[in-house]
Amino acid sequence: MTATEQQLETAEPTNIVIFGATGDLTRRKLMPALLRMLCCGLVHADSRIIGVVHDSNEAEWLQLLKDGFDEFSPQLNVDEASWLKFSSHLKMVSGDLGDEATYQRVADSLETLGGKKNAMFYCAIPPEWYGKVAQGLHRVGMVNEDNGYRRLVIEKPFGSNLETASRLDKELQSVINEKQIYRIDHYLGKESVQNLLVYRFANSIMEPLWNRNYIDHIQISASETIGIEYRAKYYENSGALRDMIQSHLMQIMTLVAMEPPVEFTADAVRDEKMKVLRAVRLFEPEQVENQTVSAQYASGTVGDETAPAYVSEENVSPDSATETFAAVKFYIDNWRWQGVPFILWTGKRMKARVSEVMIRFRKPPFNLFDSHASLPAANALVFRLQPDGGVVIRMNAKKPGLTTDNEEMVMRAPYANDIEHVADAYEILMHDVLIGDSTLFSRGDEVEECWSILEPVLKAWKDRFSIERYRAGTWDIAAMDELTEDCVGGWHKPTIYE
Ligand SMILES: NC(=O)c1ccc[n+]([C@@H]2O[C@H](COP(=O)([O-])OP(=O)(O)OC[C@H]3O[C@@H](n4cnc5c(N)ncnc54)[C@H](OP(=O)(O)O)[C@@H]3O)[C@@H](O)[C@H]2O)c1
Repeated sequence: MTATEQQLETAEPTNIVIFGATGDLTRRKLMPALLRMLCCGLVHADSRIIGVVHDSNEAEWLQLLKDGFDEFSPQLNVDEASWLKFSSHLKMVSGDLGDEATYQRVADSLETLGGKKNAMFYCAIPPEWYGKVAQGLHRVGMVNEDNGYRRLVIEKPFGSNLETASRLDKELQSVINEKQIYRIDHYLGKESVQNLLVYRFANSIMEPLWNRNYIDHIQISASETIGIEYRAKYYENSGALRDMIQSHLMQIMTLVAMEPPVEFTADAVRDEKMKVLRAVRLFEPEQVENQTVSAQYASGTVGDETAPAYVSEENVSPDSATETFAAVKFYIDNWRWQGVPFILWTGKRMKARVSEVMIRFRKPPFNLFDSHASLPAANALVFRLQPDGGVVIRMNAKKPGLTTDNEEMVMRAPYANDIEHVADAYEILMHDVLIGDSTLFSRGDEVEECWSILEPVLKAWKDRFSIERYRAGTWDIAAMDELTEDCVGGWHKPTIYE
């Protein structure tokens, strides 16, 4: 029996309610994922997809979704027959989120499927509405689980600092149980990110090396070649630190640094991740300068294309000091990681689009082969998360010839490139919601802890007037060399494999 067949047995028919059913996320990600999930049985065939739309008639809404497949998912080749099949699951409810009557209409639209009124409520709406939607659903009895499960999915951002994140959690938890809340971080749904846990805990060669005795430092990165695209309004208030480090990269850090959980269940995994966050050394305000880097892209050339400066992008203030590059050096004060820097960095309009976890080992203690030569390069183990997921090991080998000179040998093991269809992160995560598995979702305390750790950085960066610039399409950020100068090998810029 395949994994998919096993999962099929447990996913029950469900009312999949999407708030914000005309929005970008719905059209770009959710509907394509649901179409594929219905096709391969990850969503039960008796399920309903109920779109809550602001102000539209059903024919217009259906056309918008249909056009969305052509615009965002042409590879799915949604022809008339598959559209008709998919659209037979769709149903629309109209109403404003601020109108009490909308929630009653949603409640009335839920169907009894397989004897229950299961419902997943997906908030594909601006974050300021999450709490109000939970309360609206609560008022009409829709978070009560007497007649089927009721699960609420929310998208990042979960607040914009500790105060707003705590307020959101209080608002949600006053009406709905934490176990019913699924805070989605699509990064954690990626095959290659989940694979980090398997690499670590299904291989016995890792554990003996996985500590301060052998590891010099770890870099966790996500570089992009794109700019902010259509997201100026969001990005101006967010910046790279909030957008990527507080959420995706700190989550990955917890997976890399955590102790083995006692079992592979949501709370056991998340308890271990939480222990890592609690051990992260807090910054004193004066340390922020030495342990962080921020910068913003100037104009340049990315690939073959000329890219404008961030401040010349549409809807960006010409004197904006928002960071499009951010790096933070963390220390985790526990037995395993004492003294090992974890450097998390991310940037837009960089030279290449690569996400990876790079484990840099200590240098060999001396050069046996030539006492006058410098030490051989330190080994590195790289988990490439995207675009070409896999593992890279860098180790030294003898240069062919009569001497014992050595050179670095790069061993690459691509992962899953030969699989026809590796499920998209949204398919994996929505399926997890349907089967009630919250292992890959952030718990409220984790989110608040991440914000709490970053508070001093957010405060220090809040009122600045100027920021370093880097040329778009380059890795030209001198401050990164300073941040990594005490790390073996310095700043690791990802290798681009042809
Ligand atoms: N787009 C992505 O790829 C992406 C990725 C990660 C996270 N997210 C998060 O996902 C959420 C949705 O993002 P998005 O990009 O899809 O935003 P969007 O394109 O602006 O869509 C927002 C949706 O919410 C609806 N809406 C807003 N106010 C409403 C109200 N008062 N009553 C009823 N409906 C209302 C909008 O309907 P109208 O247009 O009719 O107002 C629209 O359907 C955001 O929290 C975002 O941060 C998005």
